[in-house]
Amino acid sequence: MIIGTPRETADGERRVAMTPSSVRQLSKLGHACKIESGAGEFARFPDGEYVDAGAEIVGNANLLWESSDVVCKIRPPVESEVDLIRGGQTLISLVYPAQNESLLKNLNSRGATVLAMDMVPRISRAQKMDVLSSMANIAGYRAIIEAGNNFPRFFTGQITAAGKVPPAKVLVIGAGVAGLAAIGAAVSLGAIVRAFDVRPEVAEQIESMGAEFLFLEFEESGSGEGGYAKPSSPEFREKQLALFRSQAPDIDIVVTTALIPGMDAPKLWLEDMVLAMKPGSVVVDLAAERGGNCDLTVPDQKIETSNGVTIIGFTDFPSRMATQASNLFATNVGHMIADLTPDKDGVLVHDMDDDVIRGATVAKCGEITFPPPPPKIQAIAKPPQKAPELTPEEKREAEIAAYKKTTREQVAMLVVGAVLLLAAGMFAPESFMQHFTVFVLACFVGFKVIWGVAHALHTPLMSVTNAISGIIILGALLQIGSASTLIAVLAGISVLIATINVVGGFLVTRRMLAMFQKS
Ligand code: NAI
Repeated sequence: MIIGTPRETADGERRVAMTPSSVRQLSKLGHACKIESGAGEFARFPDGEYVDAGAEIVGNANLLWESSDVVCKIRPPVESEVDLIRGGQTLISLVYPAQNESLLKNLNSRGATVLAMDMVPRISRAQKMDVLSSMANIAGYRAIIEAGNNFPRFFTGQITAAGKVPPAKVLVIGAGVAGLAAIGAAVSLGAIVRAFDVRPEVAEQIESMGAEFLFLEFEESGSGEGGYAKPSSPEFREKQLALFRSQAPDIDIVVTTALIPGMDAPKLWLEDMVLAMKPGSVVVDLAAERGGNCDLTVPDQKIETSNGVTIIGFTDFPSRMATQASNLFATNVGHMIADLTPDKDGVLVHDMDDDVIRGATVAKCGEITFPPPPPKIQAIAKPPQKAPELTPEEKREAEIAAYKKTTREQVAMLVVGAVLLLAAGMFAPESFMQHFTVFVLACFVGFKVIWGVAHALHTPLMSVTNAISGIIILGALLQIGSASTLIAVLAGISVLIATINVVGGFLVTRRMLAMFQKS
């Protein structure tokens, strides 16, 4: 098949759906690639690089659409592009079919097969094709960079000769893909980061990234279908707003990413909260395209409020990092085409039984196939069922029963161990028994020590154990003066290896522990 990519026509769009490395990826699948001249210019991919990768440069968009079997692009096609589509052709791009009903009808009337990259279901197998996640990841990172660019202080706290600099406090609302990327970027810049999401299952992810999850004392879960949120009750919303209101005077940077697919962005950072923020604070509203999470957001603009708070409502964050965004988008498209080319022979097989292909296909050979049925696989495993609440008496009884069971097991193990030891002592030589007893005790002590350590600390613990085990060096040192050359050489090698072990072990331990330390 011939896969072609035109230059993006939308104003200010710098991304491109095909990169030199995706050309190589597609060539391995047996496809030939064409690209409109200059399509990669703003993403810093000159035509020459495409030619080197094996693509053909086409002079204009008309020629490209005419000569391609599959057209890959980023933005939904505009009217002039729809007119260029012919029956039997396949289009792979963002489409947003729920919001662009008439576009879908027009595309379908041309008889084309349309794969909407924004409709790829959020299931594990489809992650490599999930352009929304790729773009949201970039947007989250870039949101923090933009915030930093407009924030008049450091992110990280410092103690300098000129005085103490407090760390910036960042609040991330909505910890989906973009939110988690923002948390990661803000934590790595040294800010104190707090985050909130209506889905309680993300609390662990937030905390594992070094941020604080703001818990809301309310018996309601915001988790909906497919790893997305569901609308909250008015009571929950009020509690949530009260929480944000209490945070507003203390927070320097707010990044809002809250969204439920197919709905307008919920208003969560209200005007009074903006007014309660300190001058110089920054709000980055990633949901600006869908109306914004902040009352005062103006889509595509950066404004400053009367109290000196900057509100950024840009909707083109991925395009502001065009090279990275194009690379990820093109790779996602490449994976989609790889799924469509199961035999790697350049022939597309449109398997509508495949969850991912079915989900993304919104029109096929003159038939609109949107919306798709729900994927057969759940995006996120159901949370485990909560155990029923016990009364204090029942709790006490359960604890006593568990204690008795453990004691019985321990006594049984001790008896078995003693019998085995006695049996061994009757036949084994005395020296063996001495070493064996030390060995058994060492195993017991080692097991007990490690058992009590938190899982997160197992790796540093292992590395320090490794370092201590380097004490073997002592044995080698005792032998190094031996009269036998062979023994002296072996002892020398042991000293060298054991030294590497000791030094390496301590270095790794220090680095590991530093990961758990908060500055
Ligand atoms: P996502 O669906 O992964 O995350 C949204 C998160 O918001 C979810 O974790 C959800 O539980 C949470 N949420 C929903 N309602 C909430 C509420 N009332 N309170 C707190 N949390 C709530 O979405 P993703 O991919 O992270 O995208 C986030 C936003 O970023 C979207 O609005 C998307 O359109 C936007 N975006 C903006 C870009 C830009 O250039 N401005 C580029 C890419 C994405």
